[in-house]
Amino acid sequence: MAIERLVEPTVAHEDAEEEKIEISLRPISFAEYIGQEHLKNNLKLAIEAVKKRNDGSALDHILLYGPPGLGKTTMAGVIAHELGASLRVTSGPAIERAGDLASILTNLKDGDVLFIDEIHRLRRAVEEVLYSAMEDYKLDIVIGKGPAARSVRLDLPHFTVIGATTRTGSLAGPLRDRFGIIHRLEYYKEPEIEQIINRTAGILKTKIQPDATELLATRSRLTPRIANRLFKRVRDFADVNGDGIVDQKIAKKSLDLMEIDDLGLDPADRNMLRLMYENYGDRPVGLTTIAALTGDEASTIEDFYEPYLLQMGLLARTPKGRVVTEKGKKHLQEVKNKI
Ligand code: ADE
Repeated sequence: MAIERLVEPTVAHEDAEEEKIEISLRPISFAEYIGQEHLKNNLKLAIEAVKKRNDGSALDHILLYGPPGLGKTTMAGVIAHELGASLRVTSGPAIERAGDLASILTNLKDGDVLFIDEIHRLRRAVEEVLYSAMEDYKLDIVIGKGPAARSVRLDLPHFTVIGATTRTGSLAGPLRDRFGIIHRLEYYKEPEIEQIINRTAGILKTKIQPDATELLATRSRLTPRIANRLFKRVRDFADVNGDGIVDQKIAKKSLDLMEIDDLGLDPADRNMLRLMYENYGDRPVGLTTIAALTGDEASTIEDFYEPYLLQMGLLARTPKGRVVTEKGKKHLQEVKNKI
């Protein structure tokens, strides 16, 4: 059983309070959305063009991919807002049968945005219904059974699908081809994370000193969701152990308590790197072996641990497997010396 991680970039859906705060922190317009400049510029242009044409055509379907926590859902909300459209949110695993998708689609209106999170997890039968719906706004359904069965085509409103996935690789080719705009969300730059932390502090009416913001930004894995989560923990710490103002000392103590190191790694990351290095040294290790070492699912390693460790150059991927880099080894040594 994997341990619960503070730096887990997914939303803890079972934690209603946390989810509510996270939603309240979400920017709703491009003007409020910090970072992802390249993506924003492309989207602004596409949205302006649709509005200018004003001929009833919908915005092209959009596929957003990249590591979790970088704002795919938030961006879908911003796009819908900028279009002046309604947003309907669902996910690949939530649509169990083709009939579930049919009922979602027939309830949409012209111009609406349908956000499908984890779109790579759609079932094959559901995916096929989605193809023709996305391609020509038609819904093919079979009515009746056996020899009396007949197929009917229903017209659907002109809607836009925004699909989100952590991996484009596992998306079926024909589905990927239906998206006119395909974009990768990048890790944020540290100054952008600082802006996000300051914005969050403002919304939550907490004072934070610049050197504390800076410190938090270096430990947030370049990911807004984690920055906001760490900020909330540090704010709690400041309320309990200080006067509620987040300064660098408070931030540092609180992060140490959470065992988050200088690069934003938590005990689970360090444990994985250490197990790899202690057992295999400089030899490459296969994904399933790493999963066996840590007790996680291979997909958890691939989607949650690995992207940031690769981004930071602590881990490298080779054709034969993953290796801990020189930087990774040095980091493990430094952390060990500090404790
Ligand atoms: N909160 C979370 N992500 C954000 C972003 N990209 N911009 C502004 N606030 C955010």
